[in-house]
Parts: sequence; C-alpha cells; structure tokens
Amino acid sequence: MKTPTYGLVGRGRLASHMAHYLGLEGHDVVVWHRDLKIGPEEHLRDTDVILLAISDHAIGGFLDRHPDFGNHMVVHFSGAQIVEGAHGLHPLMTFGPELYPQETYRSIPFVTESGGAGFHDIFPGLQNPSWSIDPDDKPLYHALCVLAGNVTTILWAKAMGDFEHRLGLPGDILRPYLRQSAVNSLDRGMGSLTGPFARGDRNTIDLDLEGLRGDPFREVYVALAKTFDPLEANT
Ligand SMILES: NC(=O)c1ccc[n+]([C@@H]2O[C@H](COP(=O)([O-])OP(=O)(O)OC[C@H]3O[C@@H](n4cnc5c(N)ncnc54)[C@H](OP(=O)(O)O)[C@@H]3O)[C@@H](O)[C@H]2O)c1
Repeated sequence: MKTPTYGLVGRGRLASHMAHYLGLEGHDVVVWHRDLKIGPEEHLRDTDVILLAISDHAIGGFLDRHPDFGNHMVVHFSGAQIVEGAHGLHPLMTFGPELYPQETYRSIPFVTESGGAGFHDIFPGLQNPSWSIDPDDKPLYHALCVLAGNVTTILWAKAMGDFEHRLGLPGDILRPYLRQSAVNSLDRGMGSLTGPFARGDRNTIDLDLEGLRGDPFREVYVALAKTFDPLEANT
C-alpha cells in the first residue's frame, strides 16, 4: 500500500512529536499552523491524511471553518472527545517539550474508536501496537489515563516542591522512591503497595491527615482513604 502524505495541523507538543516521529520513519509531513498566511486547505491540498494535533476545544470549530477537508481522511488525537467528521486516534503517552528517541515512539500504543478508521488505515507504514474501544467509553478511558499519569505527576511535583520549601530537604531525594515505585507497580501492580493504606493502619492515616492540616492536598488524601479498600485490593 502506498504510504500517505500527512498534513499536520498545529505546532504544540503533540504536533512536534508526531512531526518528529513521522520524519524519523521517512514519511512526508506538511505542517500548517494558524500563524501562516496561507489557509490550511490550500497549504495541505496535496496531502492525503489530515492530522489535527490541536487543542481538544478547537477541533470541532476547526472542522466547521474548513469543511473542504471532508475529501481527506481527517484524524484527531483527543482521548476523551468524539468528533463528527474526524476519526479519533489517541496516543497512549505523555508528550512534553523534549522529543523522544525513535524506539520510544515505536512503543507507543494507539487507541482508536471501534467502527472508525483503524491505526493501520491511518498509518500503514508504522508498526505501533494499536487497540480500539467503543467510542462511548472514551471519557472513562481518558479519565483513567489522567488518573494514572497526570494525577501522579501532580502528586510527585507536590511532594518534591514541599520537601524543598516546607521541609528543607532536596526534592531530588524522592527520585529513587519514584523510580522503584514505578518499577514495582509495573512488576506487581497493587501487590506492590506498601504504607498505611496497604496495612489498614488507621492511626498512621490520622497522623498523616494531621500533617496535611490546612493543605489543599489533604482532600486528595481523604478521598483516597475513603475510596481505597485494602480488603478489596487484596482479592
Ligand atoms: N500532550 C500530550 O501528552 C497529549 C497526549 C495524547 C493526546 N494529546 C492530544 O493532542 C492534541 C494536542 O494537544 P497538545 O498537548 O499538543 O496541545 P498544545 O501543546 O497546547 O498545542 C495545541 C495546538 O493547538 C493549536 N490550536 C489551538 N486552537 C487552535 C485553533 N482554533 N485553530 C488552529 N490551531 C489551534 C495551537 O496553536 P498555536 O500554537 O497557534 O497556539 C497549538 O499548536 C489534543 O487533542 C490532546 O488531547 C496530547
């Protein structure tokens, strides 16, 4: 099958990573962003697949303003949204300002919407693992990704910042703990849990809550203590 030519809309984090990955794989990519004088239809006229790597809230409006893209295969990358006129393709990864090595990109799983275009319809030249889900499950799927990835990032940043600013300890001394927690979670999942939740140690949980008095993150700890059931976790 002929490899399509890609028209990439956006110049943010995902757009930069996708342009880099497709370039590493030898694919032709034409990038359009809204500071260019030329319109996207004209700029991307000779491409086959339009990749909308733009903010979730902008996807629907962009397609309304540019209906001529109806002749192309149009793809968006939102993990939560279903968008009329575009196929959903979510890369299960975090993309920050630093680009990744080719092997990292190749390992990223992509999740599509069942009934829509599959990963290999969009990227016949790439070998990434891919899966599809019922579009109605996308909000749950995305919420789980956010809980696992973004929320834990916030929690580690909170701990490192407060070590520095409230305890006079270098935030970096948490790094071995972060690394080993990730390794143990990958190896043994919930079986790797230690600490007062795992032990059902109510006294220590109360002491911790006392330590967080006046801190907005106390509510996060309380919510977890209420949600987490060690008996259920061990079954
Ligand atoms: N970053 C991740 O880790 C990640 C992971 C999986 C999926 N995604 C998905 O990837 C997509 C892009 O996210 P991102 O993290 O790359 O966001 P981002 O870094 O904030 O970049 C957003 C891009 O959207 C463009 N944009 C916003 N409104 C626009 C409009 N009305 N018309 C044209 N362009 C517009 C911005 O243009 P300007 O540069 O001109 O402001 C910018 O280039 C989203 O659907 C997101 O859910 C992101």
